[in-house]
Amino acid sequence: MSKIIAIANPKGGVGKTTTTINLAASLAIAEKRVLIIDMDPAGSVSYGVGLAPENIRAGTFEIFSGTVNLLETIHPLDYLNIDVIPCNVFSSEQEIRLSEMAKNRIRLKRQLMSFLNTGKISYDYILIDTPPSLNDLTVGALLASDSVLIPLQCGYFALKALQRLMQMIERVRKSVNTELSVEGVLLTFYEKGTRTSMRSVQQAMELFGDLVLRTRIPKNVTLGYAAYEKKPVALVDISASGSRAYLSLAEELLSKTKPALPRYYQFEKMVDEPVIV
Ligand SMILES: Nc1ncnc2c1ncn2[C@@H]1O[C@H](COP(=O)(O)OP(=O)(O)OP(=O)(O)O)[C@@H](O)[C@H]1O
Ligand SMILES: [Mg+2]
Repeated sequence: MSKIIAIANPKGGVGKTTTTINLAASLAIAEKRVLIIDMDPAGSVSYGVGLAPENIRAGTFEIFSGTVNLLETIHPLDYLNIDVIPCNVFSSEQEIRLSEMAKNRIRLKRQLMSFLNTGKISYDYILIDTPPSLNDLTVGALLASDSVLIPLQCGYFALKALQRLMQMIERVRKSVNTELSVEGVLLTFYEKGTRTSMRSVQQAMELFGDLVLRTRIPKNVTLGYAAYEKKPVALVDISASGSRAYLSLAEELLSKTKPALPRYYQFEKMVDEPVIV
């Protein structure tokens, strides 16, 4: 059985793509078979893992256009046990076309299920990176997922964006995907010992309670640098604090038996945006 996790937060730059790539690598190091699906037309996943545009045959665009078989969109990496379905659009026309096709929000789920249920593909984990928006591509990812992992950047919680995300999760749970749960809230850009990070942890605990994961991802220059090396950070410097944090995250998720359910009532507390702590 594959576990499908969407990595989502409509706020930009909070560490969604970094988390997708590095959690995938850490799970692969733990000998899990992992597929990354990029739902962001910015195509940052392929950049971050070193998939050159000239080597990309097909991806999310073709899954939505139905022009190729899903198997043809899968690109194995030449390190670790990770496959990638990239989302590279090469023109603004293609991007507009993708957003039109993505109105068929259920398409990704249908395609994945038909290949998973017939055993044509098999993974322990499928991680879906989403764009910084609550658009049809993000909702399509939520429909296809078992759970949502929400990265929160310390020091700046865009509360209205989060509130919209939680409302969308609730809506999806009440309609097509009743089993959707929250895998956890992951604090990113954490700086130990700073008042900002301590206040962020406190605020996250007040809002999300036990949905907040034990693992915190530190602000770490090697994490940013790994993107330039086009590799997961663990393959650049396994001893970097960022590498160790993403390995702990994999361990924490692997040891969890059942994700918690959302605690919606918490979100009444969310009022103004932005809140800078
Ligand atoms: N913990 C970290 N420490 C230092 N730099 C980080 C960390 N996490 C991410 N970064 C850097 O911050 C930038 C934004 O991260 P990332 O692209 O993962 O965010 P995102 O949420 O996917 O952004 P977008 O919403 O635009 O897709 C990148 O340059 C990344 O290398
Ligand atoms: Mg991203």
